[in-house]
Amino acid sequence: MMAGHEVIVADNFFTGRKSNVEHWIGHENFELIHHDIVNPLFIEVDEIYHLASPASPPHYMYNPVKTIKTNTVGTINMLGLAKRVGARVLIASTSEVYGDPEVHPQPESYWGHVNPIGPRACYDEGKRVAETLSYAYAKQENVDVRVARIFNTFGPRMHLNDGRVVSNFILQALKKETITIYGHGKQTRSFQYVSDLVNGLIRLMSSNYSQPVNLGNPIEHTIEEFAVKIKKLVGGPSKIKQIAAMEDDPQRRKPDITRAKTFLSWEPKVPLDVGLLKTISYFREELQMGNTSHHSRVLNENIRS
Ligand SMILES: NC(=O)c1ccc[n+]([C@@H]2O[C@H](COP(=O)([O-])OP(=O)(O)OC[C@H]3O[C@@H](n4cnc5c(N)ncnc54)[C@H](O)[C@@H]3O)[C@@H](O)[C@H]2O)c1
Repeated sequence: MMAGHEVIVADNFFTGRKSNVEHWIGHENFELIHHDIVNPLFIEVDEIYHLASPASPPHYMYNPVKTIKTNTVGTINMLGLAKRVGARVLIASTSEVYGDPEVHPQPESYWGHVNPIGPRACYDEGKRVAETLSYAYAKQENVDVRVARIFNTFGPRMHLNDGRVVSNFILQALKKETITIYGHGKQTRSFQYVSDLVNGLIRLMSSNYSQPVNLGNPIEHTIEEFAVKIKKLVGGPSKIKQIAAMEDDPQRRKPDITRAKTFLSWEPKVPLDVGLLKTISYFREELQMGNTSHHSRVLNENIRS
């Protein structure tokens, strides 16, 4: 919108909140539609960023069938819309298409190591089909597609109860509770700050490159190191403790971003500590305002249990 574009946001508010975009409501270039993309959408657009999907394990496991529908039927609807109006469409895929990878770091040429019937399958396989659909529409219907394989991303306005490591550790540290590590803590993750991802998505959309592109931060941390870092940045008395490992928890994750560097001249710029401090202050404010439950009580209860 800052560049003069008109933006229409379609969201069913499953994990999103109106308050995340409320500062734009009333702007002449902004429109918000309450819409579930499992149903067809008839609008006129030039570009589609297809980002709709529950993104964290508790959210996508809450209703696995719906997760699959959003990523398959929903993706067909977005590709169908792109075909109808001649728009370019960018699909938000994920590092989860690599599953628990046997290749490290993961280049886009790696086909992945995914359990098709495990607890994460609704999301991993849903996103893999979303990619397959994109290239089928490109080949058969000439739809102009871009595929971003997004690695762990965090930042202000993320869901407080999203159940992933960044939000879990920050919340535990702010509430002075024990910081809990699933398993031995030697598993690694790489974390990207949201503004770096947004820049990468915009570059990919405007590029001529139509193969999948990893967008993530290649700096790798063990979960244990990360717990210590968050404890230090938040301050306070929290202890760090190991608990039972999660089923199918990937052991190592790190993007090979050679493609993004070569074809998009993109790489992440925001240092981890800078991003974490911004996120911690957002979480602190939300806690002070009592905004710990971001949506339906049923979903929150399910996440806690
Ligand atoms: N954050 C990450 O680390 C990460 C990593 C890899 C991929 N991704 C992908 O990026 C995209 C955005 O993720 P995010 O982290 O911003 O998550 P998010 O939960 O903040 O955003 C997803 C949005 O999709 C909406 N949504 C879900 N199902 C829908 C449906 N059927 N119809 C309409 N709207 C629907 C939600 O309400 C929410 O606003 C997702 O597709 C996710 O799978 C995110």
